Amino acid sequence: MTDRYCVFGHPIGHSKSPSIHAAFAEQTGEAIEYTAIEAPLDDFCGAWQRFVAAGGRGANVTVPFKEDAFRCCDVLSTRARRAGAVNTLVLSGNGKSSDFKVHGDTTDGVGLVRDLVRHGVALEGARILVLGAGGAVRGVLEPLLAQAPQSLQVANRTAAKAEALAHDFSDLGAIIGSGFEDVQGPFDLVINGTSASLSGELPPLPDTLFSPSAGAYDMMYGAEPTVFLRWAAARGAGTMDGLGMLVEQAAESFFQWRGKRSDTAPVLERLRRSL
Ligand code: ATR
Repeated sequence: MTDRYCVFGHPIGHSKSPSIHAAFAEQTGEAIEYTAIEAPLDDFCGAWQRFVAAGGRGANVTVPFKEDAFRCCDVLSTRARRAGAVNTLVLSGNGKSSDFKVHGDTTDGVGLVRDLVRHGVALEGARILVLGAGGAVRGVLEPLLAQAPQSLQVANRTAAKAEALAHDFSDLGAIIGSGFEDVQGPFDLVINGTSASLSGELPPLPDTLFSPSAGAYDMMYGAEPTVFLRWAAARGAGTMDGLGMLVEQAAESFFQWRGKRSDTAPVLERLRRSL
């Protein structure tokens, strides 16, 4: 039987994950089936268990289930434990015996770092500002700190949340948390991990945010640049949206399931054209 995978979300209709994984499967010659499943809001673990009983071998998890997925795992990677969230579920064992285990990982941060590297951004020794302190930001801090930046500031509308986040990760490197009012710059890289772009809003930021060759990254993407990226471009920063992060996190999930690396460049190119 063909191994089955899926992405769980709610809503899930417009997910790009099925076409990304179909492309990876074709590239690597892996015979898999990958579908999108809308899980009920009040029973994520039940939906996952039913999928496993029907032959499911692994899954991606997106909004709003990443914290629920965390709670259905037998084994967690250290970065998933830190993130408090899981976007990749992997089954070990054959899934039909009683001894299989559910492994949870989060590949979002690896995806972000790989996309930044692909763009030629030097992370080692960089002064990095991350905007936001929600689940999306929590999921990327460990891989970012592992790149040995000179400094990492997390700034959030609610300052206390950024301070708490910085405290949680302070054993991994130089990280501070603050409100937007305590952002000064210059920074070599500014990453927007707030959901402000969704509502077309812009966090209140000083004009002096960017160093001369700085990059601005928005974890969101769309056919048009986000309001944050338009603002950054007008201040001389090189801009990058989150489409590459989406493809790279998927490639890492695929690797965990199938042990094969995919060529992300053509998949990203095709996806970009389809926006
Ligand atoms: P996600 O899973 O996408 O991170 P979340 O956990 O709800 O979603 O976090 C949303 C983040 O976007 C938070 O950092 C939030 O700031 P608060 O903690 O102060 O709520 C931030 N955010 C949402 N709308 C915003 C806006 N209009 N301006 C600035 N920050 C905003």
